[in-house]
Amino acid sequence: MKVCCIGAGYVGGPTCAVMALKCPDIVITLVDKSVERIAQWNSDKLPIYEPGLDEVVKKCRNVNLFFSTDIETAIKEADLIFISVNTPTKTCGNGKGRAADLKYVESAARMIAEIAQSNKIVVEKSTVPVRAAESIMHILRANQKPGIHYDILSNPEFLAEGTAINDLLNADRVLIGGEETPEGHQAVEKLSWIYEHWIPKQNILTTNTWSSELSKLAANAFLAQRISSINSLSAVCEATGADVSEVARAVGLDSRIGSKFLQASVGFGGSCFQKDILNLIYICENLNLPEVAAYWQQVIDMNEYQKRRFSQKIIESLFNTVSDKRIAILGFAFKKNTGDTRETAAITVCQTLLEEGAALDIYDPKVEPEQIIDDLTHPSVTESPEKVKKAVQIHSDPYSAVRATHALVICTEWDEFVDLDFKRIYQSMMKPAYIFDGRKILDHERLQQIGFHVQTIGKKYQRTGLLRSWGIVPQL
Ligand code: NAD
Ligand code: UDX
Repeated sequence: MKVCCIGAGYVGGPTCAVMALKCPDIVITLVDKSVERIAQWNSDKLPIYEPGLDEVVKKCRNVNLFFSTDIETAIKEADLIFISVNTPTKTCGNGKGRAADLKYVESAARMIAEIAQSNKIVVEKSTVPVRAAESIMHILRANQKPGIHYDILSNPEFLAEGTAINDLLNADRVLIGGEETPEGHQAVEKLSWIYEHWIPKQNILTTNTWSSELSKLAANAFLAQRISSINSLSAVCEATGADVSEVARAVGLDSRIGSKFLQASVGFGGSCFQKDILNLIYICENLNLPEVAAYWQQVIDMNEYQKRRFSQKIIESLFNTVSDKRIAILGFAFKKNTGDTRETAAITVCQTLLEEGAALDIYDPKVEPEQIIDDLTHPSVTESPEKVKKAVQIHSDPYSAVRATHALVICTEWDEFVDLDFKRIYQSMMKPAYIFDGRKILDHERLQQIGFHVQTIGKKYQRTGLLRSWGIVPQL
């Protein structure tokens, strides 16, 4: 069998790499319109950072896994084609700011229709609105050449960045939606056969196409909802003296609730949660289900509130002004173990601090410096890109980032931050020295003993840190 995947991004890359590793009898060609991206996939420095990905790619590349810009040949030769192109939120026109922009999916479908000379199974891997498969089918069948048959399947991807290889190797489930016709069943069987190379058959779930498409949006909405729920309670904790970690533990030990995705934070980011919930909201609005739309809108609103609340807490704690103060930002990616910054909460935090006149010293172990500057000078973030460039310094080492700063803000939960030498950091910072732990990963008691003023999410610290810096409580 020959497989082609259109879209060599965070999903296409790891998915095809694992498929190639587990299916030596299948030849997989991953194609992209971006010449630069394909060149990176063929180089020693892959375009995305994902633990374990390098090893898998090195093992399979040019054996049964190929990266190419020759989209035409790959489509012509393939029996099965994954579409895994981006589906961002629309930025203009109908559904602006809410609906998924399907222009890349549509253009992939049109390419297939134009190029195909034999039967194809077309698999929607991108996250799309319910009934998008119908639009793809419409495009393919309207341009169908005589004797060519198309089957369309929905096969949404559930991998999370930072754990993509493990998620793909040990998927909780693989979901395949297809048409309820004999041909549709056959196509489902063929795709299922690929996954059966490494996924137990009982974990391969088959549904109708629309259920499959909606399940993907639903899964992301549920996950994000849990984060917004615990984040909403973090505000209650800060106002009452309860500790959100203790609340999350107590609640999560109920086996009906479970403990995962209850980590209160500065707010969820990433390319999927917000986009997919907005997409769900748009669908509900169009289906004249305003109450359902409003329900899911709250998950997004709570996330915005959390990002704003944390940023404001920094400013208020620093005597209500950060103007001309240096603030170190540790972590810029939307979560650890990825270099991806899409929708990262760090952008909101930095934007707020920059607007208030702060100078920022930013360190992230995997995000490229140009990416940080691009994000912070984007027109949606600032009207003064030159001012931002002057106020932001990117560091390649956390100790250099914190030197002579008034405060240190943790925006991403990178493991390496836990083991930093905080005594050394304290000595190199301005006093009073503040730490704002937006990920709840540090040992706050110890930091207070060193002399830091500590603020975090979902737990109010008494001002013992301040007392220590005044010499009322001895420092370590
Ligand atoms: P991405 O932006 O990293 O990659 C998409 C790639 O598609 C880009 O390299 C782009 O150049 C390419 N592309 C676009 N149109 C093309 C065309 N017509 N021909 C050839 N190449 C084309 O996106 P991603 O993060 O991999 O996401 C892809 C899809 O998977 C989205 O629908 C997303 O919602 C979904 N998804 C993403 C994740 C994730 O963690 N990133 C997880 C699950 C599902
Ligand atoms: C998510 C889904 O988990 C995945 O199934 C889907 O395929 C794509 O979208 P991803 O966005 O890569 O994956 O990462 P995820 O681990 O879900 O984290 C998303 C955001 O939520 C991150 O910013 C993370 O830091 C935050 N988060 C996660 C929390 O704030 N608290 C938690 O308890 C869990």
